[in-house]
Amino acid sequence: MTDRPIIAPFPATRMRRLRRTPALRALVAESTLSPANLIWPVFVTEVAGAEGEIPSMPGVERLTLDGAKRAAETAMRLRIPAICIFPHSDPDLKTEDCERAWDPENIGNRAIRAIKEVAPDLAVMTDIALDPYNINGHDGFVHDGVIVNDETVGALVRMALAQAEAGADILGPSDMMDGRIGAIRDALEDHGFSDVAILSYAAKYASAFYGPFRDAVGASGRLVGDKKTYQINPANRDEALRCVARDLSEGADMVMVKPGMPYLDMCRMVRDRFAVPTFAYQVSGEYAMLEGAIRNGWLSRDVVLESLLAFRRAGCDGVLTYFAPWAAEVLAQQG
Ligand code: PBG
Repeated sequence: MTDRPIIAPFPATRMRRLRRTPALRALVAESTLSPANLIWPVFVTEVAGAEGEIPSMPGVERLTLDGAKRAAETAMRLRIPAICIFPHSDPDLKTEDCERAWDPENIGNRAIRAIKEVAPDLAVMTDIALDPYNINGHDGFVHDGVIVNDETVGALVRMALAQAEAGADILGPSDMMDGRIGAIRDALEDHGFSDVAILSYAAKYASAFYGPFRDAVGASGRLVGDKKTYQINPANRDEALRCVARDLSEGADMVMVKPGMPYLDMCRMVRDRFAVPTFAYQVSGEYAMLEGAIRNGWLSRDVVLESLLAFRRAGCDGVLTYFAPWAAEVLAQQG
């Protein structure tokens, strides 16, 4: 837009002229939404009997390895380019040392290999953080009640290498420890994984919107305290921009804002300021809000595509959303 937009006074300007028909509206649409803009987060469990619907996320299921393979085939059919794996691990095997986080046979790494078997062209994204394997539900090691940074980074590097080895295309460090992007990038380069990309959860806020996710991965009852010493204060904007700048300088290929809808201002700022591939995560609580209201008949299902289009308008290349398969199906029908 020019500094001073030229607007002829009414009636020369009638904004409704270009809203009159679907064809005219399509011609002047400023943003688009397609399945190529979607990343589908899926939960994969190794616990017999834990598969099935997650009560606080109606319509979203924990999948078995076979279920994950079927989801990958669905993603391919719907032209969703990427799937993101979140492990639901055996609660009896969670420890303080979190050693299963970098076990090649953990459920996350097994899911990567299973998906690559049936859908080698689908991009597989991972989550790097210790919480699925940590007895106290934190993303980092807890020593004497403190979430320690530098020791955790070493573990995250091992976790990243195990995921790269299993065949992941995109690693998603979601832990918010300082220094992890550079450490992971160096390790990937040193170990022959220079083509593995990093999508950094750069602007990740300490949010209550993650509640249903913690139910889904079985971390809710365990979390001791909160994550405010590592995730960003929702009051802060400059701090989040510094985190994005820092992660890019350490070698992140893409960056994420999380949560999504309440943080669209950050999406726009990151896009404008850095002009790098920018993603948002429409998180579990956002899904629960929309899906809950839709199921109660309080909102029409049209809110889903509207909410996803809003991320595009705010400058995002794409969005991680639990609505991905539904949205892709509808978008395909619309042509
Ligand atoms: C774990 C992680 C979380 C989410 C993604 N990775 C939860 C958390 O930080 O507590 C949240 C995703 C969602 O709510 O959908 N580090």
